[in-house]
Amino acid sequence: MNNKFPIVILISGNGSNLQAIIDATQQPDYPVTIKAVISNKANAYGLQRAQQVGIPTEILSHKNYIARQRYDQALLKLVECYQPKLVILAGFMRILSKDFVDHFSGRLLNIHPSLLPKYKGLNTHQRAIEAGDKIHGCTVHFVSNELDSGKIIAQKQCDISNDDTIESLSAKVHQLEHQLYPEVIHQFALGYIKLSGNDNG
Ligand code: GRF
Repeated sequence: MNNKFPIVILISGNGSNLQAIIDATQQPDYPVTIKAVISNKANAYGLQRAQQVGIPTEILSHKNYIARQRYDQALLKLVECYQPKLVILAGFMRILSKDFVDHFSGRLLNIHPSLLPKYKGLNTHQRAIEAGDKIHGCTVHFVSNELDSGKIIAQKQCDISNDDTIESLSAKVHQLEHQLYPEVIHQFALGYIKLSGNDNG
């Protein structure tokens, strides 16, 4: 147990991706352990998911900080307390400043609900439907200093059918995310995924 690959997960909300990663870590042969779950929102349901299985949780509210950089400094310190080899953004709804991103470069991952580089930012399902796309999906990528633009690690895709709504498409993509993120974290822990040189977006 103790020699498993340590990760910290940052969330802001429901935490269904967090749940998928928790479920994976409960398989004996999954080589990863979640050291802490940190939320910027006190009411994030993901905190309860973590507490239910005894994972330490922390709330660091951005409301107590005037400047983004100050918040990110505090967050950096808090994350480093747990000495993670990988930091996972799982619905963490804040843009991180350069110092934070640079500090964790190569060990900071995000999941995004589109087939990047399509649809960076918000409302991805709506935008895919409105564009008449036939295919949609999700992407896990290294975090860089430009929003949703770091090096792509892996993607999963689904069809958009004529009767798909934002809700139905969101549910499809979430299902894909719940498979993809634990798989990528597993591969990262085994050393198969690395950021090299200047290739981060
Ligand atoms: C996911 O769709 C993820 O792609 C995006 O935020 C959402 C988080 O959902 N970054 P959940 O909190 O994991 O349910």
